[in-house]
Amino acid sequence: MDMMELIRTRKSVRTFDGNAVTENDIKKLTEYIETITNPFGVPVGFVLLDAKEHSLSSPVIQGEHLYIAGKVPKTEHCAEAFGYSFEKMVLYAWSLGIGTTWIGGTMKREQFEKEAGVREGEIMPCISPLGYPAKKRSIKEIGMRTAIRADKRIKSEELFFENDLGTPLRCDDVTVRNALEAVRLAPSAVNKQPWRIVKCGNDYHFYEKHTLASGGAAWDVQKVDVGIAICHFMSIAGGTLSFEKPETAVGKDTEYIATVTL
Ligand SMILES: Cc1cc2nc3c(=O)[nH]c(=O)nc-3n(C[C@H](O)[C@H](O)[C@H](O)COP(=O)(O)O)c2cc1C
Repeated sequence: MDMMELIRTRKSVRTFDGNAVTENDIKKLTEYIETITNPFGVPVGFVLLDAKEHSLSSPVIQGEHLYIAGKVPKTEHCAEAFGYSFEKMVLYAWSLGIGTTWIGGTMKREQFEKEAGVREGEIMPCISPLGYPAKKRSIKEIGMRTAIRADKRIKSEELFFENDLGTPLRCDDVTVRNALEAVRLAPSAVNKQPWRIVKCGNDYHFYEKHTLASGGAAWDVQKVDVGIAICHFMSIAGGTLSFEKPETAVGKDTEYIATVTL
């Protein structure tokens, strides 16, 4: 599968077939995660954790034997960097047929942080189970997907704009169109899809539309989402990342994050 196909076919997997991830797949995944970098320049570390050995579980996950936790130093752009790097892992895992679910809420956070060895000055925004998808989703998973409208995405014209946040983007370039579609399909917390893009020339300015209450966490989970969106965009279209806030007027609920220049 090429990258676009991986992005199109990936879905959260919460029901696993009960088989352990093979040693060969673990080796490939472990080797791959060593190579993951992100354009935010903030290193993200990964820890594989055997579910039984570390007494780890999530109320929404069934049939899993393995988890992966991600850790990042609590610094500027750490949430976006985490989103970018963890999504690289998610897409690579999927290329091996390994299902994942981003989990930032539905877990015993303290237990995961302890077992993952999260240190002072570090955060662990999310974890994921790793395993092979079961043939059928559990009733619980089906109910959850329906409640969250997990198969729906916001229309392009409400996400992507040209020069200002009022003018929907019309785009003829096939690569850019694919990159935008890759952003649209990205996973996000509670499927809120907080990313917005304003194109100005060759610059694609990424914004976060705040649509979730912070819930008192030490980081903004919707910045993780925007990091995922930037990962999808750059995985298809390439480009370079910078942080020069444009003049574009945006509402109070919308925050500039970064610019990808093609
Ligand atoms: C940062 C982040 C946090 C998430 N946290 C949870 C979670 O705590 N529990 C859960 O079941 N799903 C969680 N999800 C998964 C989303 O609900 C899911 O990605 C979204 O509904 C879209 O569905 P899809 O991944 O199948 O495309 C999270 C996703 C992201 C990106």
